[in-house]
Formats: sequence, C-alpha cells, structure tokens
Amino acid sequence: MAFEQVPRHVFVPRIVGCWPPFSSDTEITVDRQSHSDLWLELVYSDRLLFIVNDGSRRSSSSMPSVMARFLELLDVHDGGVVLEIGTGSGYNAAILCHRLGSEHVTSIDIDAELVEAAGPRLAACGYTPTLAVADGWQGYAPRAPYDRIIATCAVPRIPEAWIEQLRPGGVIVAPLRGGRFEAAGLVGLRRRDDGSLTGRLHPRGAAFMPMRKGPEMPMPASRERLRSLAQGTDGEERPCTIPAWLEGTDDGLSPYFFLRLHERDDWEWFWLSGPHGEPRAPAAAAPDGSWARVIRRPRRTFPNVVLQGGPRRLWDLVEESYAQYLRLGSPGLGRYGLEVEPSGRQFIWLDRPGSTYAWEL
Ligand SMILES: C[S@@+](CC[C@H](N)C(=O)[O-])C[C@H]1O[C@@H](n2cnc3c(N)ncnc32)[C@H](O)[C@@H]1O
Repeated sequence: MAFEQVPRHVFVPRIVGCWPPFSSDTEITVDRQSHSDLWLELVYSDRLLFIVNDGSRRSSSSMPSVMARFLELLDVHDGGVVLEIGTGSGYNAAILCHRLGSEHVTSIDIDAELVEAAGPRLAACGYTPTLAVADGWQGYAPRAPYDRIIATCAVPRIPEAWIEQLRPGGVIVAPLRGGRFEAAGLVGLRRRDDGSLTGRLHPRGAAFMPMRKGPEMPMPASRERLRSLAQGTDGEERPCTIPAWLEGTDDGLSPYFFLRLHERDDWEWFWLSGPHGEPRAPAAAAPDGSWARVIRRPRRTFPNVVLQGGPRRLWDLVEESYAQYLRLGSPGLGRYGLEVEPSGRQFIWLDRPGSTYAWEL
C-alpha cells in the first residue's frame, strides 16, 4: 500500500497552522527542530497540512484520506501515463511514482518555488518524475497524451486542453469550485472515442483551493460592501420560511450545492440581528446588488419576514430551490454527474446524462 510505504514527513518539513486547532488565532510554524513530537504527530495524522517555503504560506498537503478518494477515482493501471496538476508538497506525486514508476508520472505546479522544493524531496525517496512549472489550465502538452489527469486544485469546468491531451478511455479526476460550484464537488470522468466525457460526482466531495490563473473569474465583491448591502431595511417585505439546512437542522452541503447550480454568482452570507434587536437570522447579498435579509418574529403565531432589494429576489430563489430539492428527494452529491459533449459544451446532470435536470457550465 503506497500510503504505508511513502514517507510523508519528507514532503512537509515545515507546517503552519493554529494549534490546537480552533482554539487559537495565532499561527505557529511546526517543524522537526521546533516541535518534534507535534510535527511527527501532525504529519502522520489524517490532516490537511499547510506548508511553507521561505516563510509564506504557499500550498497544502491534502488529507491522506481525501487523496485516497482521488486515487480510487483515478483508477490507475500498470504502465499508465499520468499528469498531476498541482505538485504542492510532492507527496501525491510520490504516491503516483510508487504505484506506476517515475517514468510514467508528470507533475506540474504554477509555483516555481514549490516545484524546486519538491524535486529534491522526491529524489530523496528515489523518485524522479518529470516536474515542470506550468499553468495547469493548459495541461502539459510536451508529455501528452496521458491515460490519466489528476488535478489537486479546483476548476469551475474541465479545460479543453485536458480533453485534448487525454487518450480515449482515459480518466480525469478534478475537484470543482467556482462558477456554479461551491467547493465541494469532485468528479471522475472517462473519455469516450468521440472526445466526449462523462462521469459521476463523488458522494462525499472534496473542498480544494481554486486553480490560480485559469479562466477569467469575476473579481469577488468585497465582503464589507456586501455586508452593508445585506443590512438594508428598506426592501420589499413578505412572510418567509427559513430552509432547514440554513437553521442547521438538516445537512447543509447538498441543498447548498443544489442552490449554487441555479446561481453562478458568489453570494456572501451573514447572520444578522434584526433592526429592533430580533434574534439573528440569515441574510445574503450578491455582487449585482441583490440582497435579502430575514427578520425573525418574536412569537410563532407571526411568520418570519424577509426584506429583499436590488435587481433580483434572492430569498425567492433560496425558497424555490429548497422546495425543488425536497421534491427531487434531497439529492446528495453522488446523484449528479458531469457530461462534456464532443462540441465542448459541459453540463451537470441529475441522475443520468440527458436528464431534464441539467445545468450548463
Ligand atoms: C492542494 S495543493 C496540491 C497538493 C499536492 N498535490 C500535494 O500532494 O501536496 C494545490 C496546488 O495547486 C497549485 N496550483 C494552483 N493553480 C495552479 C495552476 N494554474 N497550475 C498548476 N498548479 C496550480 C498550487 O500552487 C498548489 O500547490
């Protein structure tokens, strides 16, 4: 088993984080010299570790159990040629080399310092994959075609270059984030002979850092500007409901995933007390100036109300999408799939390709 045989400590000599987790805001750097026992405990635990080069946080080594989820979807076979996008610490590249042999592995990262640091660490373990500094949105043409492409940074859709560089029957595994996705989706796609790809989302998903550069993404609106928008008091008022997932009485991941499929914008969410001291309730604001603010009524005999303003009625969307989500049987992530058509159009589907429930990316 590669995870037992490839030493993780070689790849994460310095970790940065708050310790103990969630109990402190002060970050510390943990390495063999400063905190030898803690460092070793962290390295060989199932944790996401932030790694540093020259003092600034640059990358992370993913949770080993999440890496295993990716590698299961990747379904590698002896002799297969793999491109990894996001070298980071080099640990995942080492696992791939252990399984396939270094000559079958190419790993690229956009950050030159990370690639420089990963090379000697891989070599220290006896691995010599092809490493390069490159923008993964373009894949890596010099070593194409590949049987497998694995991205360890998240994309809002599958880049064309990856499809072109993948052999028929090959597999792409990538986390999804941005565009229609909250950081949750993880997809494994197989390429058909006609250049189309299809595959399901992993039921448990995976939250990953977005790819740097990549496609043009709108600049996120400032959280402070959106907060003052969401604090509005002069919107249209109507009685409203608060979906169970927002009250924390139901799993939040899949209803929120469903809501995001209807809504490309990144909203900011807030929990605000009412203008007359009413208990805290959800509020949201979108970059186009739309906002919604729920105000709780003191007694159950009066329904809560929502104030909404701007070009769109965000709370209508929240309620409608949750009602539809419930009608569809509360679909978890594993009921979705992604289809890339030969024309290049990409859709998320529910239950099966060609379903009436599909969202173009
Ligand atoms: C979660 S880390 C990778 C973890 C790594 N596979 C490991 O085992 O340590 C994500 C990496 O993606 C890289 N990255 C971000 N945008 C990129 C891009 N456009 N092209 C290539 N790599 C990118 C980051 O520099 C970062 O190192």
